[in-house]
Amino acid sequence: MASTATLEKTASHPGWLRLTHWLNAVAVLIMVASGWRIFNASPLFGFSFPSSLTLGGWLGGALQWHFAGMWLLFVNGVLYLMLNIASGRLFTRFFPLSLRGVFTDLSTALRGKLAHDDLSHYNQVQRLAYLFAIVDIALLIISGLVLWKSVQFGLLRELLGGYETARRVHFFAMALLVGFVAVHLVMVALVPRTLRLMITGKEGKSS
Ligand code: HEM
Repeated sequence: MASTATLEKTASHPGWLRLTHWLNAVAVLIMVASGWRIFNASPLFGFSFPSSLTLGGWLGGALQWHFAGMWLLFVNGVLYLMLNIASGRLFTRFFPLSLRGVFTDLSTALRGKLAHDDLSHYNQVQRLAYLFAIVDIALLIISGLVLWKSVQFGLLRELLGGYETARRVHFFAMALLVGFVAVHLVMVALVPRTLRLMITGKEGKSS
């Protein structure tokens, strides 16, 4: 069996993955901040987001940002998925995945005993969280299409339970994605070597 040192050296992220990851982070930031401004123009619930956290200045400006960010999110996301599937990485990095494995890794992590020496593979909690983010972004795009062109995407609208339900689906998918990003950033801060790996593609000798 390979030693930890050997495994650490083999940990790498290809250039296309790093590029699509960072473009995705920019796109998500644009979509969330402009989405909050659009929400404020006609709040679905009894609160508004602080203006300082929103993008676009006013409804028209926010919609422009939202549509521009949408193309980046969509094209970049499709590219990420296609390259992940074509390279076989999707299956080797995110599977196998089991409920038992997730619980085992989660309880090990909560006891502070989950090892992070080997960055060449994701633990089961990471696998689940990343797959969740991918599926959630897909749901955001689908429900967003319904809100954007509800007549043209009539079948999607009906599948989502109608326009009003699609609006709620879009909102809660956004809230879950923001929750994912918050946890993701805490995890990155706890294991900063992963950040170097996602920036340079390779792991340094020490952290
Ligand atoms: C500035 C904000 C962000 C930072 C600093 C960051 C950092 C990282 C790092 C360091 C990794 C690699 C983890 C590892 O190798 O163990 C990673 C992976 C990942 N991140 Fe982020 N991230 C950010 C924003 C986002 C956002 C906004 C999303 C999606 C909403 C996201 C989704 C993912 C996914 C899905 C992976 C796994 C990628 C793969 O292996 O295919 N990240 N991130």
